[in-house]
Amino acid sequence: MIDGRARPTYAAPASGRGIGAFGASRLRTMATEDEIRSALQRVIDPELGKSIVELGMVRSVTIADDGTVDVTVSLTTAGCPIRNHFVEAVTREARTVEGVEAVNVDFDVLSDAEKGTLKQTLGRGSLPAGALAQVSNVLCIGSGKGGVGKSTLTSNLAAALTEQGKSVGILDADVWGYSIPRMFGLGGDRPPVSPERKIIPMQAHGVKVMSIGFFVEEDAAVVWRGPMLHKALTQFLEDVAWGELDYLLVDLPPGTGDVSMTLAQLLPQAKFVIVTTPQPTAQKVARRAAQMAGKVSLEIAGVIENMAGFTTPAGERYAIFGEGGGQELADELDVPLLGKVPLTMPLREQADAGTPLVLSDPDDPAAQAIRQAARGIVALSPVELPVLQAPEPTGISLPMAG
Ligand SMILES: Nc1ncnc2c1ncn2[C@@H]1O[C@H](COP(=O)(O)OP(=O)(O)OP(=O)(O)O)[C@@H](O)[C@H]1O
Ligand SMILES: [Mg+2]
Repeated sequence: MIDGRARPTYAAPASGRGIGAFGASRLRTMATEDEIRSALQRVIDPELGKSIVELGMVRSVTIADDGTVDVTVSLTTAGCPIRNHFVEAVTREARTVEGVEAVNVDFDVLSDAEKGTLKQTLGRGSLPAGALAQVSNVLCIGSGKGGVGKSTLTSNLAAALTEQGKSVGILDADVWGYSIPRMFGLGGDRPPVSPERKIIPMQAHGVKVMSIGFFVEEDAAVVWRGPMLHKALTQFLEDVAWGELDYLLVDLPPGTGDVSMTLAQLLPQAKFVIVTTPQPTAQKVARRAAQMAGKVSLEIAGVIENMAGFTTPAGERYAIFGEGGGQELADELDVPLLGKVPLTMPLREQADAGTPLVLSDPDDPAAQAIRQAARGIVALSPVELPVLQAPEPTGISLPMAG
């Protein structure tokens, strides 16, 4: 109470559960701010690892008579890549409160003073504290189906993005069938460890690469079970010195299993790129991967159709795996078709030889299609442009017609 006087006794009950002016016929269970805030305790900031309520990030909660709740969440940066995670989680938790009919989530940015308080709450010197704080975009390349070209596309997309001036890393998350080291001609050497006890990714063709393949004997069968798998993937994200990256591409194993789920949990800001062939059956399996992404609230950035036709040296085109599956899936998911990559022998040969095709033979039709897909990915990624000051008028006078 600002002026120190007692609260007038005729004030509306703070709980908002009273019967309104229209009497008992309009009686409805109204949620209270306290109830909403306590439900939002369950929304965890994935980078800071604490509840958004505890972190003081819930700026305001307002509850309208019709049960609509407006929540404003304060972020550390305006371009926070995990907004969608907050929209989904805040909506889900607020809706568990009785009387909540709809939830709107809005965002603003913490002031410098508030960020200072947050740092104290966390007991840390810098923000954000996430292991991938310097990684702007995480893209998981997945399909549901094996052998459709995920790893080939991942390595070539990485090379194409590097060529376009982006800093790129690849996390080979296929712990059973890792193939990225071979595609980058990396074999034999173990990644070094920095004085800060971080693993330094291997580097080839300008791309930082991390794979379980660097740590196990070649051709050794690796058995990974739940907790061990989770630990290995967590280490690849937390204990690897990825540094500043525009893109971290994650090459997923086939299927919608443990690895994908674990990564989705660890990387709520990641987006999914779905690879499919033009075949209806592949598309069906790819759709399952999309459903999995939806279940764990990962956004789907787009679809790439691989093995889209084969053109003979004489110029005849054969639709070996059929036509149109990629476009159909993209339409169904309401996301862009980022590219249609044809079957070409050099794409396979170069992958086997350890150099991404986009670098060794940029004119190959598959290389061109992959470069176009990479441009599409860049176009989709949010870029924070610096705010320019309007220049002072310089006083140049235009020659006037006489
Ligand atoms: N467009 C293409 N043209 C020719 N060969 C291709 C093409 N795309 C992929 N390949 C070849 O197909 C095989 C499977 O590709 P890749 O290993 O990239 O698939 P994947 O989806 O990662 O497989 P897995 O599910 O086993 O991880 C490889 O031999 C690769 O060189
Ligand atoms: Mg693969």
